[in-house]
Amino acid sequence: MRPHCYITGASSGIGAALAKEYAKDGYNLTFTGRRVPLLNQLKQELVGLYPDCKIIVSQVDVCDEKAMSESIADSLKQFQRLDVLIANAGYVVGGEFKNLQTKDYRNQFETNVFGVLHTIYPALKSLEESNGSLSIIGSVNSYLTPPTVSAYAMSKYAVRSLGEALYHELKPKGISVTMIYPGFVKSDIRIRNKQGAVLERKKKSEPKLAMDTDVAARQIKRAIDKRKQEAVITWHGKFAVWFKRFCPVFLPYLFRLQSRGKK
Ligand SMILES: NC(=O)c1ccc[n+]([C@@H]2O[C@H](COP(=O)([O-])OP(=O)(O)OC[C@H]3O[C@@H](n4cnc5c(N)ncnc54)[C@H](OP(=O)(O)O)[C@@H]3O)[C@@H](O)[C@H]2O)c1
Repeated sequence: MRPHCYITGASSGIGAALAKEYAKDGYNLTFTGRRVPLLNQLKQELVGLYPDCKIIVSQVDVCDEKAMSESIADSLKQFQRLDVLIANAGYVVGGEFKNLQTKDYRNQFETNVFGVLHTIYPALKSLEESNGSLSIIGSVNSYLTPPTVSAYAMSKYAVRSLGEALYHELKPKGISVTMIYPGFVKSDIRIRNKQGAVLERKKKSEPKLAMDTDVAARQIKRAIDKRKQEAVITWHGKFAVWFKRFCPVFLPYLFRLQSRGKK
């Protein structure tokens, strides 16, 4: 029986690239998101390339706990197993603290933290049955918090803690837990507003250091395949996390330079 991989947030960016990697490796797939035309387009592309690959497209918001349970139950009914679960869906609420409100922080947590819980709970039993793999997509901001990303970094610190606890809790049950911490990767993440909607009119410009999405996806899949506890993706991400761990005075100095002149 072909293995089955369930990915949240595959309509663009890292999730879409991961879906391609898993389809190439012979997995059946369930992938989710809210932009159904993009999900269907990805499905068509993958079925064209890999005709034996069975794919379920599930239009679901990760904030909706009941809908997430139903989506995962449907996929289990169809595929009878779950081997890899990737909690990838997420977005950035950016902005200085003084320009945000409590509800912005709450919204950020609804997707980036509670959305992850809604993804994991209904899948645990099946992952245990298959000695499967769970992966949560964190961020380099799970380790460090530059100015203007407090809401996002808080949410990503939270999932780092979750991943650390789950690694130890689920290991005896045969489930591997891999935390992924990407630096800049090309995707739609920088053209969304603070409600998470994609702004078509916003010009897509990627940071110079941004890694190609397919390269990031290959590295992420390799880490999950090796059942690693964590992987930092991109060289600049590794560099930043290293400095945070071993030379913590350096980064605040950089952040101070970045916000110099702003009042
Ligand atoms: N790209 C980077 O530089 C970078 C760096 C560090 C971490 N990350 C993390 O990587 C993950 C993927 O982001 P990306 O960079 O690939 O950005 P992206 O291209 O914007 O993709 C985000 C995906 O998440 C889905 N999503 C967002 N909110 C959702 C919700 N409430 N319900 C269901 N799906 C939702 C989106 O689907 P719909 O829009 O169709 O709903 C989309 O498929 C995120 O967790 C992000 O924090 C990215």
